[in-house]
Amino acid sequence: MNQVLDTIAARRSHRAYAPTQLTEEQIQILLKAGMDSPSAVNRQPWHFTVVQNQALLKEINQAVWEETMKQNPENRSPRFADPNFDVFYHAPTVIFISADKENYWNHMDSGIACQNICLAAESIGLGTVILGMPRAAFQNEKADQFRKALLFPETHEFTIAIAVGTPTDHKPAHLPATDRISFVR
Ligand SMILES: Cc1cc2nc3c(=O)[nH]c(=O)nc-3n(C[C@H](O)[C@H](O)[C@H](O)COP(=O)(O)O)c2cc1C
Repeated sequence: MNQVLDTIAARRSHRAYAPTQLTEEQIQILLKAGMDSPSAVNRQPWHFTVVQNQALLKEINQAVWEETMKQNPENRSPRFADPNFDVFYHAPTVIFISADKENYWNHMDSGIACQNICLAAESIGLGTVILGMPRAAFQNEKADQFRKALLFPETHEFTIAIAVGTPTDHKPAHLPATDRISFVR
């Protein structure tokens, strides 16, 4: 009977999407949720880049693959065993968050904005998955090219990305690990 709590409980990561593009109104709702987020000293150190250019996402995916294949296979996500694995799960829209490198809380603030966007998406019937893997593309030789193509401000670095769309997979939300709580009273 509480829509906020219901939305938090219902959200889960979706890894398959219909090609249906988001409406402009949906995009604006997600961006407002991001911008409404709290941030340390209200610095709002983030920048949101809404990407619907599938050719660019394909190129970034390729760079993530190149970098990930350099890693020890034991440290690599098992998803890379599938040669068709797309780090963006073919989502019609991916929101990249970049944030001011000099800001001490840039990753924390980006994470909070990221979750606000995910919850907003869930509340309007869209699905999301938070994406840390694209970070590898910014270790690639094409990193500067990607930063420019994604219109990151000069002072900013990649912090996180979010794939958004109409989900086509069905899995219940994860079970909470209730043993990870202590009370000191
Ligand atoms: C910081 C962060 C980075 C993540 N990066 C990825 C990613 O690159 N690819 C992916 O498939 N899932 C990624 N996830 C999603 C997690 O795997 C997912 O949240 C977790 O398994 C719990 O499942 P749930 O979101 O369905 O509750 C990421 C989540 C977080 C919080």
